[in-house]
Amino acid sequence: MVNDYEQFIEKIKVKTGIDLSLYKEQQMKRRLTSLYEKHGFKSFLDFYRGIEKDNELLYAFLDRMTINVSEFYRNGKRWEVLEKKFIPELLKNKRNLKIWSAACSTGEEPYTIAMILSKFLPLSEIKILATDIDENVLQKAKIGAYHERSLNEVPIEMKRKYFQKDNDYYVISDEIKRTVTFKKHNLLSDPFEINFDLIVCRNVLIYFTEEAKNSLYNKFSNALRQGGIFFVGSTEQIFNPGKYNLEPIDTFFYQRI
Ligand SMILES: C[S@@+](CC[C@H](N)C(=O)[O-])C[C@H]1O[C@@H](n2cnc3c(N)ncnc32)[C@H](O)[C@@H]1O
Repeated sequence: MVNDYEQFIEKIKVKTGIDLSLYKEQQMKRRLTSLYEKHGFKSFLDFYRGIEKDNELLYAFLDRMTINVSEFYRNGKRWEVLEKKFIPELLKNKRNLKIWSAACSTGEEPYTIAMILSKFLPLSEIKILATDIDENVLQKAKIGAYHERSLNEVPIEMKRKYFQKDNDYYVISDEIKRTVTFKKHNLLSDPFEINFDLIVCRNVLIYFTEEAKNSLYNKFSNALRQGGIFFVGSTEQIFNPGKYNLEPIDTFFYQRI
């Protein structure tokens, strides 16, 4: 018999194209149950009926199923490795790097890449693709206003140069914004571009099932040019990277063979 959650998964897939079955079940169920209980629903199906009638609920659902926490220079030491070791290496061959921040949330990650690259290149030569499944976060990313807490790891000179304080918010400068193109993209169902020199995909694969991860590693690997670099999150080492034609080159960095 198809259970309550499985029916919900089916209906959400038809309505939104989002396939919840590719996300770890216990974790997702817990997040969504607390949301629907808060709104007074008794079951997933009951919740779905509510979603059908009320767009606000649909948005609350989308908000809750994606976990959007991010910050600039998240796990600072790793970004230092990118800056000191891999960016110079990539720039040895060419200046116009093709870069993708996949699951970029509210923009802290692609903007961090832009600030790091600004040490090597004029901003006008920097182009970064940044994608996420969640339109709300992309909207916030384009506005580029942040609470101080997400700037904790930003080097002081970058903070001075590229942020302007507006009441409680720090607003990122237009010249940094212009380096990033934000697009809606579902990692689990949309096609990937190819020939990337650098792909940064951090703190999202942990939410996916092993099967989904497996297929994503293949897709990321194929999206990199030979010698291209894949930078993952700090709990997301790839078990058996050779299987995907990837070689570990530093902690949380892999190179396409
Ligand atoms: C925890 S944030 C990570 C943000 C940033 N990469 C970082 O490490 O700070 C996870 C992001 O993954 C996005 N996400 C979840 N499922 C996705 C999918 N199937 N395709 C693309 N993005 C997805 C969420 O919307 C969320 O913004």
